[in-house]
Amino acid sequence: MHPIDPVKKAAADAAALLVEDGMRVGLGTGSTVAYLLPALAARGLRGLRCVATSVETERRAAELGLPVEPFDALDELDIAIDGADQVAPDGWIVKGGGGAHTREKAVAAAARRFVVIVGANKLVERLHPPVPLELLAFGLPATLRRLAQLGPVEVRAGWPPSPDDGVIADYRGEVGDPEELAARLAAAVGVVDHGLFPPALTHDVLIAHDAGDVEHRRMPAAS
Ligand code: A5P
Repeated sequence: MHPIDPVKKAAADAAALLVEDGMRVGLGTGSTVAYLLPALAARGLRGLRCVATSVETERRAAELGLPVEPFDALDELDIAIDGADQVAPDGWIVKGGGGAHTREKAVAAAARRFVVIVGANKLVERLHPPVPLELLAFGLPATLRRLAQLGPVEVRAGWPPSPDDGVIADYRGEVGDPEELAARLAAAVGVVDHGLFPPALTHDVLIAHDAGDVEHRRMPAAS
């Protein structure tokens, strides 16, 4: 058993309070979301319908008694809550440290409210590499050759395929303007998705500080 991380727990506990009876909830992936799941289960809310962004989250949520459904069963979510690897001042976010960013983005985009939960250590002045990628296994060498024109890309050694059979890799070149890089990565044939999340996707960022207080930042999508 790992010792409790009070910063991750504080952010997760604050996010669990945003969920109400009957909500359709997107559950993210990662070590911060690992604190969200028991906090949400402990609230004993009625009529929740949850969608998980990874096999691990689905397993853990089911163990805790949270009702998880396939994403095919719901076309909209009331709220989705997830961690992040980097949060920039302008609201651009990098996700995918755990390789789950494709499903995480699909779930975030389906949510009326996407809430990001982080410790203050995830705040950065400018986004930096790596930017996680999920690549189509079919024609992988040709995809990597094309991506090399944008910058160095490394397939993550020893990583299993994603639940959708994608290959997890990282773009390790300069990020520069995230909007421009996101557009280039999205336009590259063979890229299933990348870990750059635009400000317009996120409604709230809950930032837990070492002192225990949780700062609530409202993002462009909330207005
Ligand atoms: C999973 O692929 C990621 O997007 C995570 O959400 C992100 O890496 C944050 O994870 P932690 O909460 O473990 O830092």
